[in-house]
Amino acid sequence: MAKRATKAANKAAKKAAKKAAPRRRAGSKVPKVAKVAAGELLTLLDFVRYAVSRFVEADLVFAHGTTDPVAEAAFIVCEILHLHPDQFENFATARVTAAEAKSILDVIARRVSTRKPAAYLVNKIYMRGLPFYVDERTIVPRSFIGELLDQHFGGATDDEDSALIDDPLSVESMLDLCTGSGCLAILASRNFPNAEIDAVDISKDALEVAARNVGDYGLQDRLTLHRGDLFKPLGGKRYDLIISNPPYVDAEGMAALPRECRTEPKIAFDGGADGLDIVRRILNEAGRHLTPQGGLLCEIGRGRGTVEDAFPQLPLLWLDTEDSDGEVFWIAAADL
Ligand SMILES: C[S@@+](CC[C@H](N)C(=O)[O-])C[C@H]1O[C@@H](n2cnc3c(N)ncnc32)[C@H](O)[C@@H]1O
Repeated sequence: MAKRATKAANKAAKKAAKKAAPRRRAGSKVPKVAKVAAGELLTLLDFVRYAVSRFVEADLVFAHGTTDPVAEAAFIVCEILHLHPDQFENFATARVTAAEAKSILDVIARRVSTRKPAAYLVNKIYMRGLPFYVDERTIVPRSFIGELLDQHFGGATDDEDSALIDDPLSVESMLDLCTGSGCLAILASRNFPNAEIDAVDISKDALEVAARNVGDYGLQDRLTLHRGDLFKPLGGKRYDLIISNPPYVDAEGMAALPRECRTEPKIAFDGGADGLDIVRRILNEAGRHLTPQGGLLCEIGRGRGTVEDAFPQLPLLWLDTEDSDGEVFWIAAADL
C-alpha cells in the first residue's frame, strides 16, 4: 500500500516537473555546438578563436565582467587552465591536454546552450583584478563603484584633486547597502583599512555567497553581514561612508533584459516602474545614518535625469569611469 502511494507520488511529481519545465517556443532552436574532433584545436589561441566563432554565431550578450566575445573566451580558457586572465598572452601558443580541451569545450557549449554568464559557469569573477566566488544565488558583480573607490577614495589611481574623502585612514565605519556577493564591501576594505564594515542584503541566498567571499578574504572580524531591508537591520547606527549599488532597472529595462541577465536574480535588478524605488529610499534615509563628515556613493545606472527630477534640491556630484558617464553619484552628509 505504502509502495503504491510512493509510486503515485512519484508519478505526480514527474508530471508537475514536466509542467513546470520551460518549453521551447514552436520554431525556436536550441543552439547546439558541434563536436570538435580530438587534435583539431591545439593551442589556447585555437580554443579562443573557436569560442569566439561559436559565441558570435549564437548572438550572445557580454555584460558580466567582459564586454566582448574575445575577452569572454580568453577568460573561460584561462579559468579552466587555472591561469589569471593577465597570463593569457604568455601561454597563447601553448598546447592544452586532451582533458583540458574537454573541459574548455564543455564550458563553451554550456555558455551557448544555457546563456549563463561565464562567471556562473566557472564560479569566478574578477573585480579590480581580485577574484570573487559567484554563483546563481547572486548577481554577477560588475559595479562601477569598484573603479571609483580607487579613483576617489585613496586607491592606487587616486590623485589629491579628485579625492572625495581627505584621509581614507580616518574612515572608521562603512556600510555597503545591497551587498550581493559582498564584492564592493571587500574591495572597500582595502581602501579603508581602519574601517569596521557592515554589509546588508535582503536576499539570504546572496548573503551565503557574500559569507563565502568574506571568509576567502579573511575579513570575518572586520566585515559583518546583515540580512534585511536597507537600513532596517542597523538600528540608528551612523557611518563615515555609505556605498550602494542597489537594484535600479526600470520597468522598460526589466522587460528588455537580455537572456544572460535573466539567469541572475530578478531582485538584484528590479527598481520598480521608474527604477528609483530603492534609490529614493536610500536618498531619503541616508542622512540619518551618516556621521557629519560622511558621504554617500550610489550607483543608479542610466537614471540620472529621473533622480535629478525627483531630488532637484540635492547637489549630486556625478562621477565617470572608463566605461560609464554619470551613472554614480556622490553626496556629502552635510548636503543631504
Ligand atoms: C545590483 S545588485 C548589487 C550587488 C553588489 N553590490 C554588486 O555590486 O555586485 C543589488 C542587490 O540588492 C539587493 N536588494 C534588493 N532589494 C533590497 C532591499 N530592499 N534591501 C537590501 N538589499 C536589497 C539584492 O538582493 C541584490 O543583491
